[in-house]
Amino acid sequence: MALPGVKAVLFDAYSTLFDVHAPVAKLADDIGPDAKGVSDMWRTKQLQYSWLRSLMQAHAPFDKVTEDALDYALTQYGVASPDIRARLLQLYMTLDAYPDAPGALMRLKSAGIVTGVLSNGSPSMLSSAVGSANLGALLDHVLSIESVGVYKPDPRVYRFGAETVGHAPGEIGFVSANSWDAAGAAHFGFQVIHLNRFDQPSEVLPSGPAMVLKSLTEAAAAILD
Ligand code: LAC
Repeated sequence: MALPGVKAVLFDAYSTLFDVHAPVAKLADDIGPDAKGVSDMWRTKQLQYSWLRSLMQAHAPFDKVTEDALDYALTQYGVASPDIRARLLQLYMTLDAYPDAPGALMRLKSAGIVTGVLSNGSPSMLSSAVGSANLGALLDHVLSIESVGVYKPDPRVYRFGAETVGHAPGEIGFVSANSWDAAGAAHFGFQVIHLNRFDQPSEVLPSGPAMVLKSLTEAAAAILD
């Protein structure tokens, strides 16, 4: 067992269970050659705005942050269509789950591990994404930072996750494809797997993940085998 004594596993949502680039990919023909740039900038600004709002003590839910970030990205790339904007925001509510998500969650749950999401997403965004991807029955908890009012990687968010699942931080595995989130969760005291879906170099931050793996299938195996 690569992560010893894990009783519960919390997953990041966006980029880990759900593909945040699916909305732009679906409208790529309408957006044109800058589609990838729009999607990358949308995600980059969404994360920056979450951290900036936490530092500025000007919290707003993730749907507002996601909308503001999209407006920045569309302006930067000169995409002025209100119809594209509205369809992208609608698609963000029903993101595709990565194909490895259901199998990994099912394996953990059948082994008696408590499963959950701990995400920056607002409760309505998370329940919509979990529902449309049919992951509801595989998740014991769907936890939003809205219960705390500050974004990851603030340690209060990870503490809220630990308190809600009712286990000590060291008994909780945390899986995230966001390297900064993996660092924050490790710094708090979770046993962390960084899912390196995007071939990023390791972060140079005070704490790092216990393991770096490529898929949720590998993560479930590392926790159980
Ligand atoms: C989340 C984002 C940060 O789900 O990926 O929390």
